[in-house]
Amino acid sequence: MSLQRIEKLRKLIEQYNYEYHTLDKPSVSDAEYDRLMNELISLELANPQIDSSTSPTQRVGGKVLDEFVKITHKRPMLSLANAFNEEELINFDERVKELSGINSIEYVCEPKIDGLAVSLVYENGKLSYGVTRGDGNVGEDITNNIKTIKQIPINVNEVKHFEVRGEVYMSRKTFSDLNRIRELNKEELFANTRNAAAGSVRQLDSKVAASRKLGSFIYNLANFDEFKFEKHSDILKYLESLKFSISPHYKVYNNIKEVIEYVKDFESARKKLDYDTDGVVIKVNNLKLYKEIGFTAKTPRWAIAYKFAPEEVVTKLLDIIFSVGRTGKVTPNAILEPALVSGSTVGRATLHNEQFVIDKNIKIGDYVVIRKAGEVIPEVVRAISERRTGKEIDFVMASNCPICNSLLSQINDEAAHYCLNPNCEKKNIEKLIHFASRDAMNIDGLGDKIVEQFYNLGFLKSIIDIYRLKDYKEQLKKLEGFGDKSINKLLNGIEASKSNSLERLLFGLGIDEIGVKSSKVLAKRFTSLEALKSAQYDDLIRVKDFGEVMVKSLIDYFSDHKNIELINQLKSFGINTLLVGTTDVDPNSYFYNKTVVITGTLLTYGRNELTALLEGKGASVTTSVTKSTNILIAGAEAGSKLDKANKLGIEIINEDKLIELLKLN
Ligand code: IVH
Repeated sequence: MSLQRIEKLRKLIEQYNYEYHTLDKPSVSDAEYDRLMNELISLELANPQIDSSTSPTQRVGGKVLDEFVKITHKRPMLSLANAFNEEELINFDERVKELSGINSIEYVCEPKIDGLAVSLVYENGKLSYGVTRGDGNVGEDITNNIKTIKQIPINVNEVKHFEVRGEVYMSRKTFSDLNRIRELNKEELFANTRNAAAGSVRQLDSKVAASRKLGSFIYNLANFDEFKFEKHSDILKYLESLKFSISPHYKVYNNIKEVIEYVKDFESARKKLDYDTDGVVIKVNNLKLYKEIGFTAKTPRWAIAYKFAPEEVVTKLLDIIFSVGRTGKVTPNAILEPALVSGSTVGRATLHNEQFVIDKNIKIGDYVVIRKAGEVIPEVVRAISERRTGKEIDFVMASNCPICNSLLSQINDEAAHYCLNPNCEKKNIEKLIHFASRDAMNIDGLGDKIVEQFYNLGFLKSIIDIYRLKDYKEQLKKLEGFGDKSINKLLNGIEASKSNSLERLLFGLGIDEIGVKSSKVLAKRFTSLEALKSAQYDDLIRVKDFGEVMVKSLIDYFSDHKNIELINQLKSFGINTLLVGTTDVDPNSYFYNKTVVITGTLLTYGRNELTALLEGKGASVTTSVTKSTNILIAGAEAGSKLDKANKLGIEIINEDKLIELLKLN
């Protein structure tokens, strides 16, 4: 009896969810909905033997994870090539026609939703798991949080296995409400709706994710080849019939001219939407042509993203102040009359260096055009000289460090000015902040303000002092705003950071030119700090995407005895200096760090499948044979690429050898 009632309630509530959140047409009152939900909750509590993993009660969240499990995408999640003007759309159309050999192409236009891409896998009519895009090959299991998104069905009327891709987003209204509350609570504000959505989906506590009221639009069926669809628009209709939320603004057109009209119209129409969009995605509608049109290394050639120019806003430049970074670089910053740009208030923008201000002829008191680069970092585009009154003040670059007053210097041919004082306090504070920061050692509880406070109190002078903080436990507890609990949390965070993998430590050391990505590449290539330290120029220059400047910076870093001393100290404090948890890429793979081209017909693997497999092993798969190609995988009937590889003396692997090598690791 209760089973029947439970099943009935689940169906009913899901139907009401769908009507309210996807169709925007509620058919019952909130009170009625709550009454049914409460009844279902009590019935499920009273009958714990009945599986509730796909019940709408799951949508309120509750599960708290320690960390996200990594999941390898069965098919890689690609990104799209961009077009920024009409001409690029016309070029795209011509390329599509050329590659497909067809002169009249139907396109689907869809809003490009500014959120984050997710992949949802359904099995036996149920949501099996949801994964973030991650690096395109490996993402994180966010199933619990996905279940809280009411526009995503948990049960579907399709028993076949399928995987859909779509965007999870936060509406502008939810975003401003959330930031208002965060401001009241003195919490850091989210920069834009995309960051807020991404932050919400990556919540370990699914209750928090549920409270963020995320939305979703689904735009692709990853395994469409296992179904019998002819057109992308048929897929969208089918997914809509399965109760997924599909953008109501998608349209099918007969030619690129109509597409361009849509793009123009949508550029203004999008302002009225309650969610952010940053462009239009244009896809070839005929799925049969996808194979012929094909892919580049990272993007399909049958689709393109038209990106709108970022919003530009005029405001007044009130002052220019100087800041010092961890490398000693002194940067001029524009202090602006606060202005709303692409969804958030901007009051400050970097002016990079003296030359930038001179080139743009910026004066204090000018009206300036500002925008957000990549919709995140505010920048000054130009000064509006026509609006000058004569009262504007010329910019003068600082000659001394704003913190320690030492004379600034320019190094080599760089435009930047540096404070070279090794004891400059701000530089040291910034170094410490960087070391503890999220992408580096990720030390919970050791944020910017606390680092600065501890530095000023004399507890922290250099990186190694972080690992000595535990000796000052009693003194720290006496500080205002700290207690037993927060100090323990901080010390535990510090202790935990000792076992971080090498790439975090490397990035944290703050070696010039070595960012998050290159730290990862180095960690995977050398696997230990010791090996990296003793690497020679020739070893380093061969690392993928490493150039002279980066190599020189690494060599300089490891030739400085102060740095070696720091590394030795870190080791003596038990800080891990090895690569750990190589879940995705195995540096021992034959294909690791190699540039590979695939040609001819292979029997065992599809082209995309093999590309994903090789990329998962750390290879970069490209389409044309050049001098930098390391390996050519040649299937049957290989043509000109094989000839070229032979001429260039490039290693050639046939299918049998490929299978053998892939089996090894
Ligand atoms: S199609 C291979 N359609 O844009 C096909 N993407 O640069 C890839 N996006 O990672 C995606 N709205 O996060 C597609 N209607 C839409 C989209 C969309 C937003 C995002 C998505 C993707 C990125 C591609």
